[in-house]
Amino acid sequence: MEDQFKLTETPQLKPKLTASWQAPSNIALVKYWGKHGTQLPANPSISFTLNDCRTITTLTATQSDHHSFEVLLDGKPKPSFAPKIESYFKRIENYSPWIKSYKFKIETTNTFPHSSGIASSASSMAAMSSCIVAMESELTGTKIDKKKASFLARLGSGSACRSLEGKLVVWGEHADTAGSSDLYGVDVSVNLHPIFQDFQDTILLVDKGEKTVSSTLGHELMNGHAFAKARFLQAHSNLTEIKKYLASGDLDGFIKITESEALTLHSMMMTSHPYFMLMKPNTLSIIEEIWKFRNVTKTPVCFTLDAGANVHMLYPAADKEAVEELIKSKLAQYCQNEHYICDHIGNGASAV
Ligand code: PMV
Repeated sequence: MEDQFKLTETPQLKPKLTASWQAPSNIALVKYWGKHGTQLPANPSISFTLNDCRTITTLTATQSDHHSFEVLLDGKPKPSFAPKIESYFKRIENYSPWIKSYKFKIETTNTFPHSSGIASSASSMAAMSSCIVAMESELTGTKIDKKKASFLARLGSGSACRSLEGKLVVWGEHADTAGSSDLYGVDVSVNLHPIFQDFQDTILLVDKGEKTVSSTLGHELMNGHAFAKARFLQAHSNLTEIKKYLASGDLDGFIKITESEALTLHSMMMTSHPYFMLMKPNTLSIIEEIWKFRNVTKTPVCFTLDAGANVHMLYPAADKEAVEELIKSKLAQYCQNEHYICDHIGNGASAV
């Protein structure tokens, strides 16, 4: 299966290549938590592609006898990124062997603050893979293959494979999703109900620090987890169910699955060995305020969480004003320096 991504054309090497691409972050509704092999998911997941939280990467390749790279974040050398990029290049060279004939300069910048607690691995690996695939298309004279970009992004960071397309992407084999694959993300936006087309995601920055437990370790802890089997099965049925709600515009159904998935993800962390907790007291205070507000006003706003303390508030564009008022009056106080980021659903990676 992976072999379909091996280059069959002979690339006509050029002395110098450049490519500039942007890719957004994404927020999972049904969560990927647990993996095997080389970044293969233990269960299928589905996410909204974001719009404003992006990474913009310019890749410059110069033909060389020694394959090497340098990486700059906001124009400054970032040697701490090297190990992740090193292992990414190692994993992709089998599929794009021409990279071994080049040295690379990676210039990258994020539209969201680096120290916001928002993981940039999805957007950065998707932007980087888009650059690689764009260069490959130039060397082979073929068109840009977004499926391969998703495949390569997955090898860098699992959830990154959901950042190439928009607005709704499934990753992982799922009986009820035609074309779904463990190897790459597939765009399933065709059936997305209009109410979700311009859905909002406001990210409340509860904790901007580095995570105490990496998602790599968290995924590993699902091996041998007492509830793993039931959890993986549940993800399949939750995906089937939420797709129905996303197509019909059923906000109550959507909220039920989305919030349950967020809490299940964190329950898995709290019941693994060793157990750990990434939510903070302010995460819970925000959740309680959202529930209270929803009960009283009937505004269809809900939350989800990724592997951290920050809260993503999801709601229809029509409710923007009411939610903004709630944030300003009640929720901003729970955020570090009262910081939050307003984003909405977007269309994935593109050349810049
Ligand atoms: O792609 P990773 O290894 O950073 O894992 C991401 C895991 C979650 O964000 C918690 C869930 C998901 O599906 O994005």
